[in-house]
Amino acid sequence: MKKVHVFNAGPCILPQEALDRSVEAIKDFKGTGVSVLCVSHRSKEWEETMNETRALWKELLNIPEDYEVLFLGGGASLQFLMVAMNLLEKKAAYLETGVWAKKALKEAKAFGEAYAVASSADKNFTYIPEFTIPADVDYFHITTNNTIYGTEIRKDIDSPVPLVADMSSDILSRPVDVSKYALIYAGAQKNAGPAGVAVVIVKKDILGKVSRYIPTMLDYRTHLDKESMFNTPPVFSILVMNETLKWLKGIGGVEAIQKVNEKKAEILYNEIDRNSLFVGTAEKKDRSIMNVCFVMAPGKEDLQDEFFAFAKSKGMVGIKGHRSVGGFRASIYNACTVEDVQALADCMKEFEALKK
Ligand SMILES: Cc1ncc(COP(=O)(O)O)c(C=O)c1O
Repeated sequence: MKKVHVFNAGPCILPQEALDRSVEAIKDFKGTGVSVLCVSHRSKEWEETMNETRALWKELLNIPEDYEVLFLGGGASLQFLMVAMNLLEKKAAYLETGVWAKKALKEAKAFGEAYAVASSADKNFTYIPEFTIPADVDYFHITTNNTIYGTEIRKDIDSPVPLVADMSSDILSRPVDVSKYALIYAGAQKNAGPAGVAVVIVKKDILGKVSRYIPTMLDYRTHLDKESMFNTPPVFSILVMNETLKWLKGIGGVEAIQKVNEKKAEILYNEIDRNSLFVGTAEKKDRSIMNVCFVMAPGKEDLQDEFFAFAKSKGMVGIKGHRSVGGFRASIYNACTVEDVQALADCMKEFEALKK
């Protein structure tokens, strides 16, 4: 296979070991002679995989006893709706740090009084705004990593009200104090596996407090009661997630990967700050260690297409910025290696030398 460096924003690079083992499971699932794509989701072998995947999440993130882990279809986008439907009785507050946060807020407005306590829309979401959490809301919602803009809230904040977090693009990148959150959700397709499944980590006693009728499939309690097997789960996505989590555990878990992630971000941000041809777009204090966004330096904009072509010739894949920001975005999720990131930094350096 061609040697490339994959910086896609999601779906994105996954550990090769997880991919290889998933291919094996497509051929023969646990020695049953049946492909994982054809096995019954009620079989003993599949049930074991579900239980193991849940246990891996609990172990990797040190999830307290009074929480449960759910695997649901519909991506993180369905969680925008489910969170509000299950938790919003009267009022909810949101931190507006990007398009995903806005979409979450929009859904909540259908269920009660939902509003943004602060927003960074004035500067195209290139920073995390200051905020105060109101004491009179049912929950406060944050997006810990803003995939499109490359900003991140990298510490677990204290909240006087139940804290809900969309961690789609930074879950498993660092240790998290789960006890500070009432609910965490994430689409799997960055650090946790392929598209097709979302993970929800929910404190069980926050459920059942709203007075509205919740349709069965949208009620977290349905999935809690049935251990995410009320209906047919996204079997293959969960299988690849299982292999991805096993890989992460094998390399030392979230503490170990945090060090690697910080190293990668340092290499790339140092090069952006050093290189006369590029500038970072996010405020330095809020820079994400997962999505690194940058543009051509003022006066050098006409070199953009040339750099894309140069980077492509060096095997760089997926460095185009989101259309709402432009420029470049390198997504350096868990499975992206220090060598991949070094190759991109070297490519930027080489391009600068060529243009001198
Ligand atoms: C932070 C964040 N939230 C939500 C989403 C939407 O996820 P999904 O496509 O799984 O609905 C994304 C997708 O990239 C994201 O980055």
